Amino acid sequence: MAKKETPAENAQLKDIISHAKEYGFVYPSSEIYDGLQAVYDYGAYGVELKNNLKRLWWETMTRTRENIVGIDSAIFMHPTTWKASGHVDSFNDPMIDNKDSKKRYRADVLVEEHAAVFEREGNQEKADELTGKLAKLLDAEDLEGVKQLIIDEGITCPISGTSNWTDVRQFNLMFSTQVGSVAEDASTIYLRPETAQGIFVNFLNVQKTARMKVPFGIAQIGKAFRNEIVARQFIFRMREFEQMEMQFFVRPGTELEWYESWAEARMKWHLALGTPKEKLRKHDHEKLAHYANAAMDIEYDFPFGFKEVEGIHSRTDFDLKSHQEYSKKKQQYFDPEVNQNYIPYVIETSIGADRLFLLSLCNAYTEETENEKKRVYLKFHPAVAPVKAAVLPLTKKDGLPEKAREIVEELKYDFNIVYEEAASIGKRYTRQDLIGTPFCIAVDHQTLEDNTVTIRHRDTTEQERVSISELHGRIAEATSFRRIFEKL
Ligand code: GAP
Repeated sequence: MAKKETPAENAQLKDIISHAKEYGFVYPSSEIYDGLQAVYDYGAYGVELKNNLKRLWWETMTRTRENIVGIDSAIFMHPTTWKASGHVDSFNDPMIDNKDSKKRYRADVLVEEHAAVFEREGNQEKADELTGKLAKLLDAEDLEGVKQLIIDEGITCPISGTSNWTDVRQFNLMFSTQVGSVAEDASTIYLRPETAQGIFVNFLNVQKTARMKVPFGIAQIGKAFRNEIVARQFIFRMREFEQMEMQFFVRPGTELEWYESWAEARMKWHLALGTPKEKLRKHDHEKLAHYANAAMDIEYDFPFGFKEVEGIHSRTDFDLKSHQEYSKKKQQYFDPEVNQNYIPYVIETSIGADRLFLLSLCNAYTEETENEKKRVYLKFHPAVAPVKAAVLPLTKKDGLPEKAREIVEELKYDFNIVYEEAASIGKRYTRQDLIGTPFCIAVDHQTLEDNTVTIRHRDTTEQERVSISELHGRIAEATSFRRIFEKL
């Protein structure tokens, strides 16, 4: 039987998914038509959170370091790009179908999940034996052997409960479409499965026009598409998603030093954003991709276990060399310091914006019970919280709304502020807690007398009285990216 999440993990993930939907973070795509598997839309607060996370990553890369610049390359690329990168020939997953339920699975995931059951039961030896066998079979591209392993282990389909399996086949994950106005002219192009290749093919353009010297990096944020066989766990594995990738070009021979330094820098970044140390771990790859001479993942302890959030790969000169070969255009850099032409080696850091979003949501989701009353709030770092402050007049009369509007006017060009006057103040506080607003500013009758307001702090629910003139500085101080950058 394939592994299922434990009831507790399931419940936690379910709570987070329904919270995300109910409070405007994430909805299933085209939900009125019953949704589209593994595709999601971001709502009013979701898009703010995602944009903040992307901006934080972008500014970390391009502002805190002088030697990284950005680009925005197209999703469609010349089809030879994907031949050169190896995606046409080897961007495959082994798939298997259950003939009774007609459900499709990734064959390797079925075995890995089965091994995880043994691990959970404390039988590490059996778990290791299974994953070892699987690795050998995949290395040898022995798909018949993988099927036999599934049968020998008695792995059944979670839906039908049978082991009536098809053969294991390789399945290319790239989506293709046709370009050209008439059918005869049409040629197959792909929706990019990673943003990295847009950086590689622009390496010389950027190096020359931005006058960069090795070592230097190129950063990019953009959509990527993969026809994932197993699309589960909410926005963890989607068919359309966003990547934030940075390729750092270095002198050959120095790549492993840079690899270590980037691994450390990226882990520091996650910690600076407030992710607890014990919820993060590094996982070195034993089986390296065809282009890498070292690789690791940064994993986060999601409700469904430790899973990859970010990959750091030492990609050697594989991509540039391959593009040189296929395009017949030299991809060399002249290094004046050593008086040599060479193809640079590359360290890549690659993080999914949606996975970082899910990490942030899981990490922020907090349930507390006090005096038998449950309180749910999202404890986002103020720098990435979707709304920075809510301005709330205590009543709808006596000039309080007008005064509150004046405060909104004062703050709204620098921060995402909401104004709310409906419902009791307690209910309005609760609503802001549920979307993770760090500050609630209450305007009351005293405000009209002395220009002071109360600030309620989301995490402690403590309130303090401050002058209106202090508000801008207080919010700026708490929400500035600077606080995060200073920890890097
Ligand atoms: N250029 C290297 C590359 O694409 P990857 O490990 O396949 O490497 C990098 O992907 C990151 O992209 C992952 O760590 C993950 O955060 C994100 N990612 C990959 N596939 C994804 C998917 N189907 N849905 C959401 N995020 C995904």
